[in-house]
Amino acid sequence: MVEPPSGPLQRPLPDGTVPERVVVQTEERWLTIMVAMLVTMIVIMVLTSFIGALHPASNVEVIDSRTLHLKGEFVESNLGTALEPDGSATVRLIALQYDFVPRCLVVPAQVPVRFRLTSDDVIHGFLLPNTNINTMVVPGFVAEVRTRFSRTGDYLMPCHEYCGLGHQAMWARVRVVPWDQFAHQGLLGRTSCAAQ
Ligand code: CUA
Repeated sequence: MVEPPSGPLQRPLPDGTVPERVVVQTEERWLTIMVAMLVTMIVIMVLTSFIGALHPASNVEVIDSRTLHLKGEFVESNLGTALEPDGSATVRLIALQYDFVPRCLVVPAQVPVRFRLTSDDVIHGFLLPNTNINTMVVPGFVAEVRTRFSRTGDYLMPCHEYCGLGHQAMWARVRVVPWDQFAHQGLLGRTSCAAQ
């Protein structure tokens, strides 16, 4: 007596057309798996946003980009690096098509440095290679990032968010100097690299 085939691989292939019932069952099974995956991912995203307090921007602070040059924190005389009473430094700059103002910043090494940036026109990017600094600069908002430079030298500062035809030419520099050298510099030396 011949044993009937047992494993699924040994079953004979269906003859002719696959019955509609089997097609519908298979499609329903895959649809269920896909919907389950989608629901799982959405649940994970919602839960992690609440539990980990994840949000798109690290600093939500609004500003009127139409009056940047007229009043407030980002007027021209207030741009560049300023020393805080606690010895840390705050750097203020504006990104615009297609430059950063100031174009070169002087900052001290070995102290906490806070960058505050905003945009005059469209979305730009601010990146300092080999540091933790990497942020988008969105018009209407102030971006704030913090770091501490352990080595002196020039850091290139490319715009890394496509902002128009001149985007690839949008480069600036951060010059990190020893603390003593920075402390003895006049105001001009802190807002431009030209006086070096
Ligand atoms: Cu600014 Cu790209």
